[in-house]
Amino acid sequence: MLRAVYSKADERAAARIHSIRDARRGARRRLPSVVFDYVDGAADDEVTMQRNEAAFCRVTFRPKMAIGPVEPRLSTTVLDLPVDLPVLLAPGGLIRLLHPDGAAGAARAAASRGTISVLSTVAGSSIEDVTAAAAVPMWFQLYAAGGRSEADALCARAAAAGVEVLVVTVDTPTLGNRERDVRHGVAPPLRVDAHNAVPLGVQVLARPRWAAQLAATGLRLSRRGAGPAGHGQGLLSAVASPFSWDDVAHFKEGWRGKLVVKGVLSGDDGRRAVAAGADAVIVSNHGGRQLDGAPATLDVLPEVVAAVGDTAEVLVDGGVRRGSHVVAALALGARAVLVGRPYLYGLGAAGQRGVERVLDVMAAEMRRTLVLLGCPSVGDLGPQWLGPPAQGERSGP
Ligand SMILES: Cc1cc2nc3c(=O)[nH]c(=O)nc-3n(C[C@H](O)[C@H](O)[C@H](O)COP(=O)(O)O)c2cc1C
Repeated sequence: MLRAVYSKADERAAARIHSIRDARRGARRRLPSVVFDYVDGAADDEVTMQRNEAAFCRVTFRPKMAIGPVEPRLSTTVLDLPVDLPVLLAPGGLIRLLHPDGAAGAARAAASRGTISVLSTVAGSSIEDVTAAAAVPMWFQLYAAGGRSEADALCARAAAAGVEVLVVTVDTPTLGNRERDVRHGVAPPLRVDAHNAVPLGVQVLARPRWAAQLAATGLRLSRRGAGPAGHGQGLLSAVASPFSWDDVAHFKEGWRGKLVVKGVLSGDDGRRAVAAGADAVIVSNHGGRQLDGAPATLDVLPEVVAAVGDTAEVLVDGGVRRGSHVVAALALGARAVLVGRPYLYGLGAAGQRGVERVLDVMAAEMRRTLVLLGCPSVGDLGPQWLGPPAQGERSGP
């Protein structure tokens, strides 16, 4: 792979990232608040988003002491694909707005660290443009409000662009109520019109680096899909995808590669997904952006693993902010995790270089956690490395 060339500003911003919190701070510094809040926010009172993070605070580890030097190994496979780091990049809508590097930059960052990026239908750039610019393998996440015919057309384009794994998101029959977007006057996400243009313009002027970088590469968001990613009702109607299990079975029939169902929150739905042909499921509540009140994903992970872990791989996302969180999720039976906001903060702070930094930070934290646990490899993780959940601790990081 060609060595990427980064702007000095992105290099400087990336060098300031030593934790996911730092990446979040960097994104807040560079992005207009309307864009930062679009990434950082969640549905309604954001209870589920906080639950996701709080669940990791209750984890206790059971380390083994005095076992001599440990050379921690992070490599594993996900759906038979070797990965050097079991941290995948979750699909993100409109991420072209965070940085001109966009979804292609995220995919290149993932590939450079030996992992995988999932391209959203509504990333803001077309499937063909992103896969050509990234020139690395990617997975494709499907929304299709227009039903099977639209979905089949998107799948055909993804397959022609070289995508081998299809991710069907089943938790978005309508869009969650993102109140930060509502307060900015841009709901559904990032709708710009005559009413909000002036206040938004003021925010943009306050973030000249973001505005200049985006303006230099063009502000156009593709309507050709990865999907009809335009504004306003267009986006809402593009993502609201009331799929049924029959639809999932239909997608599997027409897809020559592996299929993953994203958005499972119970053992029962895990079984339905597998019955519909899923090779893997992602335990996910969409980072708390859909049904507020949904459980923390870490809390339902064991139920899903018990239900389908013998027949399908189980992945999880939501609230993963540390390498130790990845270790905890793997100990509870996840094959790998996905991160959403952590890499989106990195992208918003420093483009592709920022995503690479985020992955490096997570890998270093994972290695340190494994050494401190006395566990040589992610393949050795299991419930024996965990103690009973801590009670009555602070409720979030
Ligand atoms: C800004 C943003 C956009 C998202 N867009 C999509 C999307 O287009 N498709 C999808 O399936 N999930 C989407 N998600 C959900 C993520 O894929 C993932 O499930 C979630 O972010 C994981 O939680 P975390 O942010 O706490 O890591 C989005 C999340 C964020 C933060």
